[in-house]
Order: sequence, then C-alpha cells, then structure tokens
Amino acid sequence: MSTIELPYDPDVERETSPIFERVANVIPRVEWPLHAPYVAAINRLKRERNAVILAHNYQVPEIYHTVADIVGDSLALAMKAAETDADVIVLCGVHFMAETAKLVNPSKTVLVPDLRAGCSLADSITAADVRLLRERYPDVPVVTYVNTSAAVKAESDVCVTSGNAIKIVEALGVPRVIFLPDEYLAKYVASKTTTEIIAWKGHCEVHERFTGAQLRAYRDDDPGLRILAHPECPPDVLAEADYVGSTQGMLDDVGAHRGARVLLITECSMADNVAGVYPDVEFVRPCNLCPHMKRNTLPKILHSLEAMEYEVTVDPSVAERARAAVERMLAYSR
Ligand code: 13P
Ligand code: SF4
Repeated sequence: MSTIELPYDPDVERETSPIFERVANVIPRVEWPLHAPYVAAINRLKRERNAVILAHNYQVPEIYHTVADIVGDSLALAMKAAETDADVIVLCGVHFMAETAKLVNPSKTVLVPDLRAGCSLADSITAADVRLLRERYPDVPVVTYVNTSAAVKAESDVCVTSGNAIKIVEALGVPRVIFLPDEYLAKYVASKTTTEIIAWKGHCEVHERFTGAQLRAYRDDDPGLRILAHPECPPDVLAEADYVGSTQGMLDDVGAHRGARVLLITECSMADNVAGVYPDVEFVRPCNLCPHMKRNTLPKILHSLEAMEYEVTVDPSVAERARAAVERMLAYSR
C-alpha cells in the first residue's frame, strides 16, 4: 500500500481541526496526528471519485465520526445505499452489508476496505441448508436475517434486520415461519409474536459471549443503571435488559433517557460512537470486539479509494432472487 505514514503538516492540521473539535471527547488529542492525514486524504478523494462512505455503528470512532457520510444500523445502511446517487459506495462494515448495498443499487461500484471482513452468522448457513429446510417444511415462508450471503438471501422469501424483524414476521400474517440463521434473534422474535418460529443454530460470536450473570453483577453494583442489549444476545441476557433493540434503537434509547448511566450490551465501539453523539451520558463499557468490523481502518479506506479495491459483486445467478428478498424488506420498512 502506498499510503503508510502520511505526514501531519500544518495544512492537514488546519484542514482537519474542525473535525477534531467534533470528536475531541472520543479520540485522544495525542492520537489525532496519526489519523488526521488519512482523514484529509480520504475526504479529498471521496469528492474526486464522487464516493460516499457508509459506516456501521460498530466502526471505530476515527472512521465513524470523521470520514463516514452516513452511519447507522444494518437497516439504515441498506436504505441509504438504495437511495444514494454517488458513483461509488465504500461500505465500512462487513461483507454481507456490501453485498446488500450492491443488491439494492446494482449500477454503483461497491467497495470494501478489507474483503476478509465476514460474520459468524453469515458463515453459519448455506443456500443448500435453506433448500433442505424448505423440503422439510414446504409452504412455510423463509424469513432471513440480513446477516447472510446473497446466495442464502436468494433462497428466502423476505429479509429482516434486528430493527424490523418483529414487524415483518407479524405483517406476514402466517401461523409459522422459518427464521434464519440467528437462534437468539429468532427466540426473541418468538417471545414477541404469536407466530411459531422454526429457528437455525447460528450465533453472533460477539453477542453470544455476554451472560445474564454478568448483567446482574453490573446491576448489583449500580441499581440505577439502564441496560440496553442487542437481540443477538442469549435469552438470559435479554431478560436482564431494560431495552432490547438494534444498534439504531439503542442510540435512540440513550437519547430518550438522558441522565441515566448506560450499559450497552453489544460490540465495543458502539459506546464510543454513542458517547460522541451524547457527550453528557456516562457509559459502563464492557468490551466484546467484532474482529470482522475491526478489519476496517483509515489506511485501508484510503487504499480502497485510491486503487478502487476491493469491489464486491453478486453472482448473477442469485442476484435477482436475493434482491427481491431485500426489496420486500425495504417495502415493509418504508
Ligand atoms: P444492527 O446494527 O442492524 O443492529 O446489527 C448489528 C450487527 O451485529 C451487525 O452485524
Ligand atoms: Fe457478525 Fe456479530 Fe460481527 Fe455483527 S457483530 S458482523 S453479527 S459477528
């Protein structure tokens, strides 16, 4: 990569100082000279390429608060990807998010900074697995979490995210659905609807590590703590939470309950990013990192825009059917 160790000179300092003022409570001043040259170069190249950077809520603060044009949960990123008129989308998240962006806006060039950014949920199931389930349960609709490959989406009737799963399962108006691949999200949806759910045994390697005992220990320490958990967590964790929802739902909940100390039971960077938005809120920060999300860095984003790498495409044999499943989700969400 040609972009290692860019200098922090007076021009870069001047150009990036308004950005630093915005992030001073989440990025230490001593680190800024390392980030700022990349921030300046990326923002310049974005304009040249007519590119937009979409960043998931789990990206590190130096990506989330400085170069991202759009931030959000999986649903927001899919919706914004569908709407953008930029020529290039750089997706700072994981591979299935980039595939989803390509599905909903196929004429755009979709890039990821690191092709290895995968997901344990997406890896837990194949298209052949879905076909077997369909044989075993004919006529039962397949509802698929967006955290899956395009090939799996292509075998599905409709996609969902953690932000709309309950709403979409209810809107289908059927007695039972196959819900893939996250077992814990499936259980959570089952607890909130009367629809019978046939689940798969996929887990998120980040959220499955939290335990109910951990949350009770935090609560014993501070009974006033507001606990927010992602529905990819196991049921005993969700039972201890004051709020359960997508990462965007968590951000909104923090805004709606200012003054409380907050414990975010989700990926590590989420608290840093919410703290950037609500500097007055105090967070307790247990830290479970997603190694896939953390593959994205500023130097890799710069390389991505310089070399127009790594392009994400979708196999034409699955693209049309996968797109239909995602489009159905977007139609329910609008
Ligand atoms: P949301 O941001 O849609 O809640 O998803 C969380 C997640 O784990 C994405 O990989
Ligand atoms: Fe996948 Fe979990 Fe990482 Fe999200 S946090 S990308 S669900 S492994």
